[in-house]
Amino acid sequence: MDNLEQLVAQATADFDAATEPARLEEAKARYLGKDGSITVRLKGLGKLPPEEKKAAGAAINVAKQAVESALAARREALKNAQLAAQLASESLDITLPGRGQSRGALHPVTRSLERIEQLFRSIGFEVADGPEIEGDWHNFTALNTPEKHPARSMHDTFYLFDEQGKVQEDVLLRTHTSPVQIRYMQAHVARYQHLEHMPEIRVIAPGRVYRVDSDATHSPMFHQVEGLWVGEHVSFADLKGVVADFLRRFFESDDLKVRFRPSFFPFTEPSAEIDVAFMSGALEGRWLEIAGCGMVHPNVLRFGGIDPEKYTGFAFGMGPDRLTMLRYSIPDLRLFFEGDLRFLAQFQ
Ligand code: FA5
Ligand code: MG
Repeated sequence: MDNLEQLVAQATADFDAATEPARLEEAKARYLGKDGSITVRLKGLGKLPPEEKKAAGAAINVAKQAVESALAARREALKNAQLAAQLASESLDITLPGRGQSRGALHPVTRSLERIEQLFRSIGFEVADGPEIEGDWHNFTALNTPEKHPARSMHDTFYLFDEQGKVQEDVLLRTHTSPVQIRYMQAHVARYQHLEHMPEIRVIAPGRVYRVDSDATHSPMFHQVEGLWVGEHVSFADLKGVVADFLRRFFESDDLKVRFRPSFFPFTEPSAEIDVAFMSGALEGRWLEIAGCGMVHPNVLRFGGIDPEKYTGFAFGMGPDRLTMLRYSIPDLRLFFEGDLRFLAQFQ
């Protein structure tokens, strides 16, 4: 292969014949390697007469560059072919519909709770919470319900037992959110006792509560939202105004049927229960109790560290699960807690 042009043509053909990188490198060695034909020619230049050296050297270099660029082009082509083959074998059909994930949503009672918080915040209420595992003192005694008081039996709860199987007297699942009244009043007084005029207390306390209860309007675990407003001239009229306004906004209805029914709680005097009528559905027109309420009993203010001669207050304990029943005309409250997605998905 004396003719350089021929040599370049042969090298190009050899490179093109290599279908994988290892073969290409072997072909490269035949031309550009230590004993490759280009290399050998370059080495042979020394033996040429000086007048021929320059032209011969230039010609070999041109040929060498041509071989090198043919090699580079083939390397690039092999790389592209490999990528194309890989893409073809790992092909992804982006037109296929996705596997999809079912969409989650907030539980209807959670949505009611958020709505309640939002409405009370808008009229200047704080939102507080307290422990679900309570002591006897906060859950009953400080709420004017001493040991052996018959009202305790309406709040049969879940007690914790110690290792000997003895009931732990001071540890129970709270039966209502009212203990937060005591905790909040005490914290409020501790924070502001240095002031001559204590700021008013205006707070709601949503949370879970527990009782030994189960029927269409009672669940063993349910929610309550406690409300408390304590100040120098708070009256029963304020209680009615706040509750009635809240209910109208919650249900987005001006002709809601609401009634206050005289009742008894040891921790309020006077006391009432609040009923709302179903607006539609199978139970349309039927009354459902949604809250207990009243003027905070002087003894409870005292347990909270507040002087009942100077301050008065109202309190209520609402059932957001019942409000949710009324809002969506659901006849059985237990449906909310059975975890049946067919039921829950309707509220998305
Ligand atoms: C109380 O729990 C009082 N602590 C409420 C209160 C607070 C009165 C402050 C005065 C001042 P009652 O047991 O009625 O009261 O419960 C209040 C509301 O919780 C009821 O009106 C009802 O809406 C809801 N509720 C009670 N028991 C259940 C239950 N088992 N399942 C679902 N909701 C319930
Ligand atoms: Mg009641």
